[in-house]
Amino acid sequence: MPQPQDFATRLENFATRFGDALDRELRAEKLSGPGRAPDRLIEAMRHGALNGGKRLRPFLLVETARLFDAGEPETLPAALAVEFIHCYSLVHDDLPAMDDDDTRRGQPTVHKAYDEATAILAGDALLTHAFGLLASETCHPDPAIRAALVTELVAGSGAGGMAGGQMRDLEGEKGGFSTDDITEMQQMKTGALIRSAVRMGALLGGASPDQFKALTLFGEEAGRAFQLADDILDLTASSEAMGKATGKDHARQKPTLVSRIGLNAAYSHLGDRIHHAISALMMFGPEADTLRETARYFAERQK
Ligand code: FPP
Ligand code: MG
Repeated sequence: MPQPQDFATRLENFATRFGDALDRELRAEKLSGPGRAPDRLIEAMRHGALNGGKRLRPFLLVETARLFDAGEPETLPAALAVEFIHCYSLVHDDLPAMDDDDTRRGQPTVHKAYDEATAILAGDALLTHAFGLLASETCHPDPAIRAALVTELVAGSGAGGMAGGQMRDLEGEKGGFSTDDITEMQQMKTGALIRSAVRMGALLGGASPDQFKALTLFGEEAGRAFQLADDILDLTASSEAMGKATGKDHARQKPTLVSRIGLNAAYSHLGDRIHHAISALMMFGPEADTLRETARYFAERQK
């Protein structure tokens, strides 16, 4: 009889399977429009999306939908869409105009491996393809659900979500941010997409209004925990472990909760967030154990 896999193995196996699906999606025949997608653009998109990445947002989406017995193949197009948005945001975040980073996921950033214009366009094309996936019939047979998924991903990634959070992050570097400003900025920059991944899984699964509300709260708390852990790791982890430069928040005097409240208080805050995330899942039984473990992993991750 097959043994149940531990959480780390499940996550790793998912990342491998999902990496293969990303690889199959990022090919000329899937990307072309009235013209053929240029090879250099496809290669840059592949560089930004393949080889590494923990695939946490699609994992959350798939595991949320699984609560309602939706299988992985049915959730794949939406899961790919969320990861494409995440990958585009990393490609653009690394650009000289933003964080100006040379390495990501242990390899040169896209603008280093190619050039800035190509990195901008690769990000644009990843972003655009995400919405094409949600609009396609393979995403969900019901057009109303497809439209709801689009609306949800727009909310998570647009001006009131991730892109707006990035804008506020850049403003915050100039100073004058209160602790509440930092929390709000982080909820937009990082939390909003994590929240959307969970809510999209709930939409695909057909959650009831109460279930949707509880899962939204879970997504919000998990998102806060994730960013807090990211801030802590920026201070405590090596760049080898993270596959990207660390210590940059401190060097740039970037306002983070850690810089404001200190490392010890940040760890205790992180514990509270995980507690709240897990409490939000009270109405679910053992079928939500993987989501509970994902929240714990968000706090305990080493990279
Ligand atoms: C690391 O994710 C990423 C974050 C902590 C999110 C930071 C937010 C941005 C870069 C938003 C940028 C927005 C725009 C519009 C440019 P991860 O640890 O899951 O990374 P992985 O996928 O490499 O594992
Ligand atoms: Mg960055």
